[in-house]
Amino acid sequence: MPFKQIKEWLEKEKSLGSSNPDRFVLATTSKNAVPHSRIVAIREIDDKSILFFTQGGTRKVKEMNENPLASATLWLPLQQREVVMDGTIEALNMNENEHYWKTLPRESQLKFLAYAGTSGQAIDSINLLNDKHKSLANQYQNTEIPMNAKLYCGYRLVPEIIYFYTLGVESFSEIIRFSLKNNRWQQQLLSP
Ligand SMILES: Cc1cc2nc3c(=O)[nH]c(=O)nc-3n(C[C@H](O)[C@H](O)[C@H](O)COP(=O)(O)O)c2cc1C
Repeated sequence: MPFKQIKEWLEKEKSLGSSNPDRFVLATTSKNAVPHSRIVAIREIDDKSILFFTQGGTRKVKEMNENPLASATLWLPLQQREVVMDGTIEALNMNENEHYWKTLPRESQLKFLAYAGTSGQAIDSINLLNDKHKSLANQYQNTEIPMNAKLYCGYRLVPEIIYFYTLGVESFSEIIRFSLKNNRWQQQLLSP
């Protein structure tokens, strides 16, 4: 039920003129409870989770391994709305990652492979990645580009609580909280 609502709000944002609202801020913590957040692109929304992809070796991957609890905020500025989701991170398995890898455009696959060994690390110049990209493009000319399982990592955020917030301009703001109890979503209006 709440996932249908998220999709409807995303569609509305697009109809109001946003070309790409499908991104959210993902907050994770280190094992010492130091928080950090960043934007990730929504790859898919199913009936229990939000799917996104990242590179192995990044800070978020380390943190999601250390503490699978995460919070995500989807900001829809044209509607003055947000969706806040608190839940647990689950890694996709190898077959699922392979499936999504095959749906990527070649250019994105090459970019992913070019990150190998440097993702999240300091580099002297972006030319390092440009050179790797060029050499990979030559190497895989006219052939399928293989997935690097250490690099291409899909994750699901499985929320247990979702807040839908609509900012009120002339009226009060509205907050609807969905909480998952015994596999059923319960809906509650909250005072802002
Ligand atoms: C518009 C936009 C979309 C992004 N999408 C993703 C994404 O889907 N996956 C990802 O790992 N990083 C994405 N990034 C980069 C992250 O925000 C972040 O800078 C990077 O992944 C490193 O994060 P970390 O060091 O906290 O792990 C995106 C950045 C922007 C600005």
